Amino acid sequence: MSVSERDKYSGHMTTGHEWNGIKELNTPVPKILIACLSAAFLFAIGYWVLMPAWPLGDTFTKGTLGFDQRKHLAQQMIESDNNQTRWTDPIEQLDFDAIRDNPQLMAIVRESGPALFEDNCAMCHGNNGDGGKYFPKLNDTSWLWGADPNAILETLAVGINSAHPDTRIALMPAFGSSGVLSAETIDSLVLYIQSISTTETSSTTETTTTAENINAGQAAYSMYCAGCHAQDGSGNIEVGAPNLTDDYWIYGGDSVALTATLTDGRSGHMPAWESRLSLSERKILTFYVLSLNGVGDNP
Ligand code: HEC
Ligand code: HEC
Repeated sequence: MSVSERDKYSGHMTTGHEWNGIKELNTPVPKILIACLSAAFLFAIGYWVLMPAWPLGDTFTKGTLGFDQRKHLAQQMIESDNNQTRWTDPIEQLDFDAIRDNPQLMAIVRESGPALFEDNCAMCHGNNGDGGKYFPKLNDTSWLWGADPNAILETLAVGINSAHPDTRIALMPAFGSSGVLSAETIDSLVLYIQSISTTETSSTTETTTTAENINAGQAAYSMYCAGCHAQDGSGNIEVGAPNLTDDYWIYGGDSVALTATLTDGRSGHMPAWESRLSLSERKILTFYVLSLNGVGDNP
């Protein structure tokens, strides 16, 4: 039978258990622990009463404070919407000059432009608007529809050859396959175009025959092409006809690509963004596109 006794070193009673001469002291649970446990217990009871806690079938105890995570989240979303409309509204309502004069709005424009472009435009126009075969470069100063911000905004809204009812229409006619021009005339037009463009091409080496062909091409150009591309080949933003005198080509400036363009025509497709991006996003992208080529103010 175990006998409890007082330990003469600590002054506590022992439990009476003894192992190999080592006796177990009967020390009380520390008060601080009891205090903490009691506090946690009281806190839990208080929490159950005040906050949503216990499931009850298809409902739950709501708590007397009426706190609701869902309402809380909805509230936070309304607040963040309000924050956003604080800048989307002025960007939508103000014209480009007024936005440009407003440093706070321009900070938003600068911040959101690159991501919007990357998400929606870079797959066709390349990172930084570098363009690619069949997709025009946006970081140069050669424009199909003009460098005016409102023209760019319009292109973004309605697209080019898109399904939008007011789409811009860009149509380079098929002169060869429709039988309007013979293969010889197209060859001479190709030589003429290469002669007015700043692109270096080997085929423009001056020989009598090419000079004659170029003259024939020039005559055909005045008759069939100048109406859209302008007499000097500088293009026309009214019909989205590209400048033919620079060294940038959407479809290629070598004889093969040019012959294909003249024979079968071209008609690029740019989607309409009116229903996919908000007006403020389209305005931000307009600033971004302009910033790519150094025209106007760089956001
Ligand atoms: C599906 C491919 C595609 C996507 C995506 C696209 N574009 Fe285009 N974009 C084109 C093509 C193709 C043209 C040229 C059409 C033509 O040759 O007539 C064009 C033309 C343009 C032009 C006219 C350029 C000029 O010289 O006048 C602008 C500006 C433009 N895009 C901006 C954008 C922006 C900003 C976005 C993103 C919101 C975007 N594009 C998304 C294909 C695309
Ligand atoms: C009805 C107006 C119109 C006429 C006429 C016209 N073009 Fe075009 N041309 C365009 C348009 C618009 C484009 C751009 C098509 C696109 O990218 O969607 C274009 C594109 C081109 C291109 C491609 C440029 C590039 O960057 O790759 C060449 C080259 C060209 N035209 C040459 C000619 C020649 C040569 C003629 C005369 C035989 C001619 N065009 C007549 C409207 C016209």
